[in-house]
Amino acid sequence: MNISESLVARLSQARSVCVLTGAGISAESGVPTFRGEDGLWKKFRPEELASFDAFIRNPDLVWEWYAYRRKLIHDVKPNPGHYALAELEQRVQDFTLVTQNVDNLHRRAGSKRVFELHGNIERSYCIECGTFVPELRLDELKAAPRCEKCGGLIRPDVVWFGELLPAEAFAEAESAASRCDVFLSVGTSAVVYPAASIPYLALEHGAYVVVVNPERTDLSFHAQETILGKAGEILPMLVQALPRKPEGGS
Ligand code: APR
Repeated sequence: MNISESLVARLSQARSVCVLTGAGISAESGVPTFRGEDGLWKKFRPEELASFDAFIRNPDLVWEWYAYRRKLIHDVKPNPGHYALAELEQRVQDFTLVTQNVDNLHRRAGSKRVFELHGNIERSYCIECGTFVPELRLDELKAAPRCEKCGGLIRPDVVWFGELLPAEAFAEAESAASRCDVFLSVGTSAVVYPAASIPYLALEHGAYVVVVNPERTDLSFHAQETILGKAGEILPMLVQALPRKPEGGS
């Protein structure tokens, strides 16, 4: 797999780059995707686990599932794809990383400017008084945790189906997509809206849009390029292919 000269040229001249990631970038770390072969939604029913109604109906079941996912995520490490994006951030003047992932692996890889459109599984808060709960010991979890302040139900700080995305993160994503020279869509099936609308904003503003995925996605019909491969292999090659800027030069 080669990285095209046009992508290397555009990326090395880019003043502004925006990247949107999905579950695929964490697949090589051992985090299951949602709609892939062994995807979560093949084994679990989202309507029973990933909506506010499902949570109110059976908070213990929902927490059992989030405890399982949090343990899985704690036991894995970022992969070369995550690290390559953290390095790219250092090499581009205006870099924005927008993720649909709740797994915190971008930050663990050292990425700084990360906007989480679907929340973060490491955080939790009370649905009554809104208090954020610092550290939740889930390994001894017998039932859905309760707020020490008001006794209300604690929920994971993730965006469930039918819920609004965090306004600030979405606004940052829209503005970054509207000003970027190059837009990378990495490891996402690009079917879940409104996150999937972000790459089209970049297209509308004339950015060079590239899909990185082992499979073509809906976005591939509109993007300038689709690089068929794994993020953990393609992204390090992409960063490697970029000419090093002279020390002190931005
Ligand atoms: N590298 C790059 N892409 C990969 C890799 C890999 N190693 N392995 C799989 N993929 C691709 C798959 O081909 C697929 O297109 O990653 C994509 C994962 O798609 P989904 O499972 O649909 O995940 P995502 O796009 O992140 O889902 C969006 O849906 O369920 C909700 O809130 C959840 O954030 C999630 C949202």
